[in-house]
Amino acid sequence: MKKKENHILDYLMSNRDIYLSGNYISSKLGISRAAVWKKICGLRQKGYRISARPNCGYRLDEEPDQLNKDLLEEKNIVFYQAVDSTNLAIRRLAEQGLPGYSTLIAEEQLKGRGRLGRNWFSPPNSGLWFSLLLRPELLSPAAAAPVTLVTAAVLAKNLREKHALPITIKWPNDLLVNGIKFGGILSELKGEPDRIDYLVIGVGLNINQQQSDFPAELSAQATSLFAESGRHFDRTSLFLAMWNDLVQAYKHFFKQGFAPFRDQILQYNSFIGQEVNVKWPGGTLKGFASDLTAEGALLIKDKKGKTRVVNYGEIW
Ligand code: BTN
Repeated sequence: MKKKENHILDYLMSNRDIYLSGNYISSKLGISRAAVWKKICGLRQKGYRISARPNCGYRLDEEPDQLNKDLLEEKNIVFYQAVDSTNLAIRRLAEQGLPGYSTLIAEEQLKGRGRLGRNWFSPPNSGLWFSLLLRPELLSPAAAAPVTLVTAAVLAKNLREKHALPITIKWPNDLLVNGIKFGGILSELKGEPDRIDYLVIGVGLNINQQQSDFPAELSAQATSLFAESGRHFDRTSLFLAMWNDLVQAYKHFFKQGFAPFRDQILQYNSFIGQEVNVKWPGGTLKGFASDLTAEGALLIKDKKGKTRVVNYGEIW
């Protein structure tokens, strides 16, 4: 049986430009006006924008920005409306034999994960939260290390060239627009010291959020493409174009190595040639970020002129 919430939606949708009174809806559905209000709140939580006017009633202004499930599934992309984390979900499928280059995207993550054990805020109807599964044969875990930077380079190039957005990359996994973080990459690997079983590349991009959509603790350091450019993006086509470029790029990287991507990182980077602070397994370090190695590690010249090779860490 159709839920009452959906009946209200039908009424609102077939009366687009007019206000429907709470009385009218409640008598049509045989529920109280308080119950109508509750259902309206439920629809708003799902992303429907509904105006409410005293003495007039309710009017549907805008439907939620939804990923296009049919278009995604046509490309064999696994779509979930909500999931704990796309990285965790694709790892579960990988354990059941999901083939390489499979991709999983979710409208919402309930336990989105960031680097260094952080959470990743992943509300519905506004961002892109997806993971790719890679099964490179004949590649050692060490040789796969730059895969995060390859991902960053491809995403930055796509958004710069196709959408003229001022995207830069902050080593090793942050994507910035106007110098503020709007995206991140979480790469995970299962394997042995000399052999990769599979790699999972998780990408989170804030696309259509308004600045006020971010929780207080994030709003000073996070942004979205919409908040910076004033442009609203069709998330499905944005994703499909990036996904296409990513799949091609991984194939290229597994055959040809990191060099062409390193050039792109150097072109789009927001840190080489600057004084930076680094948190790495060796502690905290202040120094000059002088270059990237052929393997994607960061070279930091400290105050005494000694150059350190930082394979893993965070800069600010
Ligand atoms: C970071 O900057 O800390 C990395 C954030 C990565 C977030 C993405 S969203 C899709 C995928 N699934 C997750 O749980 N995390 C990654």
